[in-house]
Amino acid sequence: MHILTYPDPVLYRQASPVDRIGPAERKLCDQMLETLYQARGVGLAAPQVGVSVRIAVIDLNTPEIGRDPLVLINPVITRREGEILWDEGCLSCPGFRTEMKRSGEVWVRARNQEGREIEISGRNLLAVVIQHELDHFEGKLLVDQAGRLRKSLYLRKLKKMQREKS
Ligand code: NI
Repeated sequence: MHILTYPDPVLYRQASPVDRIGPAERKLCDQMLETLYQARGVGLAAPQVGVSVRIAVIDLNTPEIGRDPLVLINPVITRREGEILWDEGCLSCPGFRTEMKRSGEVWVRARNQEGREIEISGRNLLAVVIQHELDHFEGKLLVDQAGRLRKSLYLRKLKKMQREKS
C-alpha cells in the first residue's frame, strides 16, 4: 500500500471506529503489516494508507525478539503512568524527527485481528508508538506537534527535496 505523506488531507481526518471485524478488515491489517515491514517502520495507522478507520499495526522488530506483530483495532488508552522524552519520526513525515513528551507507560484495551478483546500494556518505545498511532486517529501529525521553528525548517527541506526530484 502507498503511504500518504504530509500534508495529505486524509491524515487530518478523525478516523471512524471499526464496527465489524470481517475478512475485509483482516485483509487490511495484513496489508498494513506488509506495508510497515516494507517501509521499515515500527508503527502504522490506517489513515496513513488512506483508510480513515481506527486500526493500527505495530512491530518493534527488535533483534532479540524479531518480528512480533501487534494489531490494535479501536484501541483506547485506559491508564497512563510516568513521562518520557522520545525522538520520534513518522512514515508520513519523511526526513522529519522531533522530540516528544509522552507517557512512559500506557495500558490499552482494543480488539485484535480476530475480533477478540485484548488488554496490553507497553512502556518506553512501545508506549511511545501506541500514543503516536492513536494521534493519527485524531488527525494529529508529528510535524504539527513540533515547535514552529522545527516545522518551518521541515517545510523548507520538503521544498528542496521536491525541487531535486523534479
Ligand atoms: Ni506516524
